[in-house]
Amino acid sequence: MSLEKLDIYRVRNIDYASILPSPGINFIYGNNGSGKSAFLDALFILGRARSFRSNSVKQVIQFNQPDLIVSAKLKHHNLSSASLGVQLGLKSKTIHLNQQEIYTRAELAYAFPVQIIQPKSYLLLDAGPQFRREFMDWGVFNMHRDFLTVWQNFKIALSQRNALLKKHDIKQINVWNQELVQYGTILAEYRQQYLSLLEPLVKNISDIFIKINTPEIKFVAGWDDSRSYLDCLQQDLEKDLKFGYTQSGPHRGDFVLYSEGRVSKDFVSRGQLKALVLTLMLAQVKLFKTDLSQEVCLLIDDISSEFDFDNRCKLLSFLSQLDNQVFITTNEFKEFGDINLSVQHKVFHVEHGKIKLM
Ligand SMILES: Nc1ncnc2c1ncn2[C@@H]1O[C@H](COP(=O)(O)OP(=O)(O)O)[C@@H](O)[C@H]1O
Ligand SMILES: [Mg+2]
Repeated sequence: MSLEKLDIYRVRNIDYASILPSPGINFIYGNNGSGKSAFLDALFILGRARSFRSNSVKQVIQFNQPDLIVSAKLKHHNLSSASLGVQLGLKSKTIHLNQQEIYTRAELAYAFPVQIIQPKSYLLLDAGPQFRREFMDWGVFNMHRDFLTVWQNFKIALSQRNALLKKHDIKQINVWNQELVQYGTILAEYRQQYLSLLEPLVKNISDIFIKINTPEIKFVAGWDDSRSYLDCLQQDLEKDLKFGYTQSGPHRGDFVLYSEGRVSKDFVSRGQLKALVLTLMLAQVKLFKTDLSQEVCLLIDDISSEFDFDNRCKLLSFLSQLDNQVFITTNEFKEFGDINLSVQHKVFHVEHGKIKLM
């Protein structure tokens, strides 16, 4: 699947733009403040119905306008096409897939999977586990269509159990323990399975970008894995009562990247950390392509501030072989390196919110 045509209305300083992207690599360059990140944000909104840079839609809608619209024509590998449109107002959200209204972000995410690598992406390894859970779950969500239902059932059971803990009402806790175990075990299995598919790709790709010995991914289920989940819930009840909150479960899940037995993020440089995050993201995109026969639209914002020239060249050659739709931005055209490495590409210049094919 790739984007064949894209129309953007009223996203930040982009008043209106209509482009026909390449199914391969799209290079976007322009001065600071010209609208490059705004352009990628429009693409992100098309797949997620939210901005990657701002929690408030008000910041993204063009000043003094009631709403923004991003619409596109998608082409699938079997050559069938689909139309997709997202409209976000200050208090409204409307999504259309093939002229039919759809009501959940999940349906949109399946229709147009999109991932972004941007200056804050290093937080994936450098910040709390929430970022890594999101990363894993995005993969799992695309691999297992029942993931959201399982996750929602788990969350219901968790909040019921927490409510009982707060009231010190332990009579019914056992019922909720069973529910937590039922759904929590499935979630943990899905995540572990996903990471084990990802790990060999991470090893291969990290060899390209960062010479670090055989990174290993260690999955963290969210409970003491020397005991069963049920044992943890039953045996740690006193502690849970004290905190008024369930301490164990997939809501505490995580993963850790190790190299030679050490936690990678604790000894690599900032540049290497970014390269590791890049590796994880590329592994995810590649896994989609190889195991799910699906394409993720990959956005890379501000490539020159993220990677040195050497890694930019390697990235370009990797992406050219991946044969996947990508949008990459930078300030100066020369910072992309040798764009002819990629057979299929287009170059766009952005100035004052206007996007022009070069
Ligand atoms: N809601 C908005 N409406 C109109 N313009 C905006 C809005 N939000 C930001 N801008 C402007 O949009 C421009 C583009 O920003 P951005 O896409 O971050 O630039 P770049 O990534 O090219 O450096 C900036 O000049 C900014 O002032
Ligand atoms: Mg920018």
